[in-house]
Amino acid sequence: MSIQLGDEAPNFTADSTEGEITLYDYLGDGWGILFSHPKDFTPVCTTELGEVAKLKGEFEKRNTKVLGVSVDPLSSHESWKDDIKDATGYSLNYPLLADPDHKIADLYGMIHPNANDTLTVRSVFIIGADKKVKLMITYPASTGRNFDEILRVLDSLQLTANFQVSTPVNWKDGDDVIIAPAISDEDAKTKFPKGFRKIKDYLRFTPQPNR
Ligand code: BEZ
Repeated sequence: MSIQLGDEAPNFTADSTEGEITLYDYLGDGWGILFSHPKDFTPVCTTELGEVAKLKGEFEKRNTKVLGVSVDPLSSHESWKDDIKDATGYSLNYPLLADPDHKIADLYGMIHPNANDTLTVRSVFIIGADKKVKLMITYPASTGRNFDEILRVLDSLQLTANFQVSTPVNWKDGDDVIIAPAISDEDAKTKFPKGFRKIKDYLRFTPQPNR
């Protein structure tokens, strides 16, 4: 059975460019992003890994650690590091897990046999501080991911974990949010002291409560 939202993220121990890592120990009490790429020394993957290195500070601000993974061996990851720096200007500053025996790929369903039966697809898993899977996205090998979108979703997930709100279409950090329909107007007045705009009984916007 493949992983679904809300499932416990499978724990594992694997070699990485930063030594042996056990996922749960590495994440501690924070959030995590586990993302797979198909293959080392390939063009789209090189741009993605450099971009994640560039954004590391943004993930850290969100108490989130990133880990990359592919089915390539550690020796391949180690040799590829220089290319990533040369090509993108950013040095790998997060662990790249080696998964030559497909242990992680199988646990997380990262190999899609009808796309390619040996390579991992471009999967992204956001793992909450409670070790539950909060988001899964899968891209084909031909399409590089938009990691600004991953940050945007992370902001939404962390906000909605702490307040009874949800985020509307194209929301980004700082925009108004939606009050949970289960909250009455009366309760909304006290829970959201900045006030709210009522468009429909079930659609009420309020300024982002953690700002
Ligand atoms: C790439 O990163 O460019 C790539 C990797 C595997 C298959 C196709 C493209």
